[in-house]
Amino acid sequence: MCGIVGVLGDHEVAPILVEALKRLEYRGYDSAGIATVQDGRLDRRRAVGKLANLSDVLVHDPLAGKSGIGHTRWATHGGPTVTNAHPHQAGRVAVVHNGIIENYRDLRARLSHRTFVTETDTETVAQLCEDFLDQGLGRREAATETLKHLDGAYALAFLFQGEADLIVAARKGSPLAIGHGEGEMFVGSDAIALSPMTNLITYLDEGDYAFVTRDGAQIFDAHGRLANRDARTIPAQAAQLDKGGHKHFMAKEIFEQPVVLSDCLNDYIVGDTVTFPDDVDFTDTDRMILVACGTAHYACVVAKYWFEQLAGLPCDVDIASEFRYREPPVSDRATALFVSQSGETADTLAALRHVQEKAARVVSVVNVPESSIARESDVALPIHAGVEVGVASTKAFMNQLGVLATLAILAARQRGRIDAAREAALISELRSLPGLINQALALEDKIASHTAELSEAHSVLFLGRGPMFPMALEGALKLKEISYIHAEGYASGELKHGPIALIDKSVPVIVMAPKDALFDKTVSNMQEVMARDGRVWLITDADGAAQAGDGTWATLTMPRVDPILAPLLYAVPAQLIAYHTALHKGTDVDQPRNLAKSVTVE
Ligand code: F6R
Repeated sequence: MCGIVGVLGDHEVAPILVEALKRLEYRGYDSAGIATVQDGRLDRRRAVGKLANLSDVLVHDPLAGKSGIGHTRWATHGGPTVTNAHPHQAGRVAVVHNGIIENYRDLRARLSHRTFVTETDTETVAQLCEDFLDQGLGRREAATETLKHLDGAYALAFLFQGEADLIVAARKGSPLAIGHGEGEMFVGSDAIALSPMTNLITYLDEGDYAFVTRDGAQIFDAHGRLANRDARTIPAQAAQLDKGGHKHFMAKEIFEQPVVLSDCLNDYIVGDTVTFPDDVDFTDTDRMILVACGTAHYACVVAKYWFEQLAGLPCDVDIASEFRYREPPVSDRATALFVSQSGETADTLAALRHVQEKAARVVSVVNVPESSIARESDVALPIHAGVEVGVASTKAFMNQLGVLATLAILAARQRGRIDAAREAALISELRSLPGLINQALALEDKIASHTAELSEAHSVLFLGRGPMFPMALEGALKLKEISYIHAEGYASGELKHGPIALIDKSVPVIVMAPKDALFDKTVSNMQEVMARDGRVWLITDADGAAQAGDGTWATLTMPRVDPILAPLLYAVPAQLIAYHTALHKGTDVDQPRNLAKSVTVE
């Protein structure tokens, strides 16, 4: 959600903080701010809206100092105003925070002798710390005493008046990294934020706090014991934070898909067989539990079709925020699988912790190998999508599907459901996908030619059957996220049970249907729409277009693909429809309103 950075540098830190915040802006962009210590004095600058506004403020009202903290906000408590923007300051303490302090009301009541100026939960942290300073505690003790009183999830960085060589950093429920430089030290929400300054990173463990000075970091565990945490060199990723000639990161990421999918498949396929770490073993698994949020959840719904059809494994698929409180019985022979691009999604992490002791094995499919979800799983399978900057997930979804399809093939082999010839045939289909995706990308202009009309719609429906049903859900999610047009995905056969009441000529209906065994049934559903003046945009292959392309508002002819793997290919038109519609609407494609990339609050 929010992004945090801290620098104890050897030059002026304001520009360094702002640059680092740019790399964290994907986490939130309602407002931003920085605080520094200069000649012992704590001072801050804040601005509502994008980071560019903070940069403007700093041009007119610069902030000096070689030590500082910064923040980019995704509002939780209190609207996006300058007053509610971080850093929050109370007397001699400034604080930046990612997460939610759940007991902030109680803390406010306890601190009723102090004057609060914001609506935020975070201000209580600064006020409490200042209160401990008032009581005579030193800076480090005041900060650690403060932490003891906080319930909820947080990554925090404290900066103090009169002390230019100390940042107190703490992690509970939200990730925080410490970066090691030459006579300089850094704190950041992730390694990417710190990548131009250093790639030597120590991730704080859950419950850790640290006293960071220019000489290094002293790290303590949740019990206050000195802790030894490894510093690791994280591969440079800064180059990936360039739009590569595209207008938006989202476009770049859509067009990267053939390459990243191919890289991903190369990691899990050798010759004609899929290959995974030895402990990925489905032989004795009696049930799959797949849990995730948003787009990653739709990847799990697609995978359900694969695990059930190919491997004969029953699957339960859940939204993480429901699963974690539902208390579902978990078989001790179950394999629990968690899918997350960021690896930090609070609900998914909590769901993982819920099954950790119960399921036979916890496997995660993640894009960030150092993430909390990866580290807390028995086996973490990286998707190798590279940094995904666009808030709407595209290439990470593609590679989640790539790993899940490969895993389902492994499960089918291990459980004796497919022979070597079928495995080789499926792998050959998978290997053809990057090329087919390239062909689908070449349809961009055709797709774009209908999006001006689509952008006029108030509501759009997506339909699909079988593994294309979750693709209908994903197509609708992409469209609403970045174009702000209301859109819903339905299983084609479900339409007549209610949603068909919505159909009239103003509601475009996008039907995603390769010519598969269920195609005729989907065509019947499409006819039901057209009989009610509905405008159908059929996305199918040449056979499907020949059979059912007449009378539609639009028909897009896609390359042919094995129907079971069609979701990977049909992700492309779903993404391009959303992207081009958003361009017509003039929305902020990479940073759509109200969203954030890494959702570390419940
Ligand atoms: C949609 C999107 C979100 C994420 C969801 C889970 O385009 O990106 O729905 O898929 O917030 O995030 P991760 O995968 O990081 O757990």
